[in-house]
Amino acid sequence: MSRQASGSATLAVAGTPAHDAHDALPIAAGAYGDRNAAIYDQIYPRVETGLLDQLESLAGKGPALELGVGTGRVALPLAQRGVPVVGVDASTAMLARLHERRRSEPVRTVLANFVDADLGGPYSLIYALVSTLNLLPDLGTFARCLSHARRFLKPDGALLIESYLSSEPSGHRQQSQVPIATRHGQAYYQVQALAIDLIDQDRFACAAGLVLHERWCNWAAAPWHADAPPFARHISIYRLGSTSER
Ligand SMILES: C[S@@+](CC[C@H](N)C(=O)[O-])C[C@H]1O[C@@H](n2cnc3c(N)ncnc32)[C@H](O)[C@@H]1O
Repeated sequence: MSRQASGSATLAVAGTPAHDAHDALPIAAGAYGDRNAAIYDQIYPRVETGLLDQLESLAGKGPALELGVGTGRVALPLAQRGVPVVGVDASTAMLARLHERRRSEPVRTVLANFVDADLGGPYSLIYALVSTLNLLPDLGTFARCLSHARRFLKPDGALLIESYLSSEPSGHRQQSQVPIATRHGQAYYQVQALAIDLIDQDRFACAAGLVLHERWCNWAAAPWHADAPPFARHISIYRLGSTSER
């Protein structure tokens, strides 16, 4: 998922491809987080400029739901701004890190698979950052995830997805690993990322009753261009179509 072993949260399919994951065993929803929790904050140490402003603006009074909240990199500072945040994650190790970092921020966590769990709500904003939805095992699960998530939106709510263009065909899953130098020696950041092209993303969103509202290429809300280079970031904001019902 990360193209770099440290520093900025540039994403896409990762450093050294270990092997194609087409034939890999199905992965548990918490596998990525449990495997990488100890090094996650080293991989993604920062919150990019503009990200919190955009989420705060979209969330309004909230509440907001983060799909795959991880260690709370974004949920905690967003909550500090006064937005009530619920964070769902399937990894006990990731949530343990979040709980260690949490002070008085009103972030409620839920240990669950966001594809089929009761997510509560309704929410003014549901968001998935840094290619979290590319951790899903296949396009069918991605489609189910969008249909499921939209049921927990307020009628005027927004679903935001941040991801990156892949060099692989949509539906292809690739396993990668990046060596990381840690205080305790060398570790490996490991990820199996599902390529989802924007045609499929919009198609499945449409089938879920969601309409593309805006698409940006960065957190300054610069418009997306279709001729973007490989690995370019895209941030999509969907809203309920006029005929959608909860
Ligand atoms: C790339 S991390 C992103 C963490 C956080 N959102 C951030 O921006 O730093 C993806 C997170 O999603 C979680 N995750 C992946 N698939 C999941 C699923 N199906 N249900 C719940 N959590 C999931 C992982 O455990 C991990 O914590």
